[in-house]
Amino acid sequence: MTRHTKKTAPTITVVGSFTVDMMMRIPRLPVYGETLLGSSFLQAPGGKGANQAVACARLGANVNYVGVLGMDSMAEAALELFRQEGIGTECLFRTDEAATGVGFVLQFPDGNNVCLTDMAANQHLSADMVDRAASLIEESDAVLTCLEIPTDAALRSMELARKHGVCSILNPAPAIAGIEKLKGHVDVLTPNHVEAAALLNIDPDAATSADAVAIARTLREEGFPAVIITCGEDGAVIADGCGEMRVLGAKVQAVDTTGAGDTFNAALAVAIAEGKPLVEAVMFANCAGALACMKVGCVAAIPYRDEVEERFRSTYSAMN
Ligand code: RIB
Repeated sequence: MTRHTKKTAPTITVVGSFTVDMMMRIPRLPVYGETLLGSSFLQAPGGKGANQAVACARLGANVNYVGVLGMDSMAEAALELFRQEGIGTECLFRTDEAATGVGFVLQFPDGNNVCLTDMAANQHLSADMVDRAASLIEESDAVLTCLEIPTDAALRSMELARKHGVCSILNPAPAIAGIEKLKGHVDVLTPNHVEAAALLNIDPDAATSADAVAIARTLREEGFPAVIITCGEDGAVIADGCGEMRVLGAKVQAVDTTGAGDTFNAALAVAIAEGKPLVEAVMFANCAGALACMKVGCVAAIPYRDEVEERFRSTYSAMN
């Protein structure tokens, strides 16, 4: 799947999204017409692509970010973030046709959340722009993309990765129509259990994480060679050429799950790019994702390599 099994830091290109997130704790969802008091307002950089890029960098990879920002002051938060985290911005584009993306993240008392986003400038990422990152992609060990950008841009990134023998990873979040186009171009598909159900037109409210094995098998049969479904505290399910299996997760006291999936995807990409076997890569990603639930916020909660390695040792040696 990947060309490289080298010991030096891998290179990951993230073709993705950036948002300025407005986060608030709420006791429950309001009903129509109701004003509800929230608390703990926080404004911070986010967006699945940016979170993934930061996590890849903190886990030791060289990272290129390909995406679009507006020309407004909110874009400054992205520029500052990428500078601080050492993320390459050679193919970071700007548009005056839309504002920088914005996310509203509502956090519930149990640590779970809902997100509403206006992707705005992110929707201006075109396949042509992704073509301008072709040489970065060619030199990468893995390409990671999500669906907070146009499907055509995500598709081009996967096509270019495949063309150059680079591992192509699609995190189909949010789960939107049109993913069929990506079949045949994706090496690893990584929905969460809600997104996985939605991709098969199964009512996500009716699909439990227990159904994930069957759903992963079906998605694989539909044309995705390796499918990894994240199931929160229940770990993750793998379906690939070796069959299906569940990889138990690392247990943590979750305070905020926002960005945990992005961290999982980044860790998976880094581990695959390092040449780790898929099961070990998922174990590593489980630990990274679990650690990202232990602090409030996205970027603020993304762990560093040594923390993930320590959690990996304590979690999986205890299971043996
Ligand atoms: O996955 C978490 C991210 O999803 C948040 O940063 C929010 O902006 C949404 O894009």
